Amino acid sequence: MTHDLSSESIYDHPLIAELYDTSENYTDDVELLRRLIGDSGPLDILECFSGTGRILVPLAGDGHRITGIEIAPSMAARASEKLERLGAKIVDRVTLKVRDVLDGGWGTGYDLLIIGANAFYELPSADAQAHCVEMARDALAPGGHLFIDNDDYKGNWGAGPFGRERVVFEGVGSDGAYGRWSMEGIRFDEAGAVLHSRRRWHTRSPDGHEHDVEYVSKKHPVSAGEVRVWLDQYGFETLHVFGDRHGTPHSVASERAIFWARKLD
Ligand SMILES: C[S@@+](CC[C@H](N)C(=O)[O-])C[C@H]1O[C@@H](n2cnc3c(N)ncnc32)[C@H](O)[C@@H]1O
Repeated sequence: MTHDLSSESIYDHPLIAELYDTSENYTDDVELLRRLIGDSGPLDILECFSGTGRILVPLAGDGHRITGIEIAPSMAARASEKLERLGAKIVDRVTLKVRDVLDGGWGTGYDLLIIGANAFYELPSADAQAHCVEMARDALAPGGHLFIDNDDYKGNWGAGPFGRERVVFEGVGSDGAYGRWSMEGIRFDEAGAVLHSRRRWHTRSPDGHEHDVEYVSKKHPVSAGEVRVWLDQYGFETLHVFGDRHGTPHSVASERAIFWARKLD
């Protein structure tokens, strides 16, 4: 079965959410955010692409009021479970919206908006990414801050490899089922800089039953230069650009481009 990712999220499976949490358990971006927030809390925060709450849950624990927008119900459900375990006081500070960020409905008046962990690489075009910066402007209060963290694309995806499958993650979940998420580049359109790829989600239940789902996806690899232009265009002042999550200043050689910008009054 092949699905088009514009209508469905590949992350929407409980085992994907569980394996995502096992493999993506770094916290250095949360620590960077805590340093940037300093003692100016508690804040009203929006995190787009909030996933299983890797960033959202600790910030809620710090006392902030936080809204997450996440397209995959299974990812959002895992975030909810983590919040429930922390107790009613923290649950009351969090709103989770299960929806496509591109459909809007972000709300308004936030002090901080987070688009972290390569979230722009979930989107199919530069236009969609730029639209997120525009919607961030509308959702933030004057003087509010925007945090955007992505790999800084260096223009080399046209060289492939294509037709070679690469495992993104795999493992066995708590119920004994095995899952493997893999992807393979199909082609790169230089015109809009869009990678077309095939992603496969393979599962094997404890009784040996195997199942495969294929998705076709498009992504635009974003560069620091593009984000800088969109921030200028939509009324932000860029305060810092970091080249890694330890807060090292960005340079042309940096693998990441992490923006900390302020919406102009
Ligand atoms: C790489 S994960 C990051 C999750 C989380 N922010 C973190 O740092 O761990 C990206 C998440 O974005 C979600 N996502 C992808 N496209 C989306 C969209 N158009 N609207 C809302 N969420 C989306 C995926 O389902 C996935 O949970």
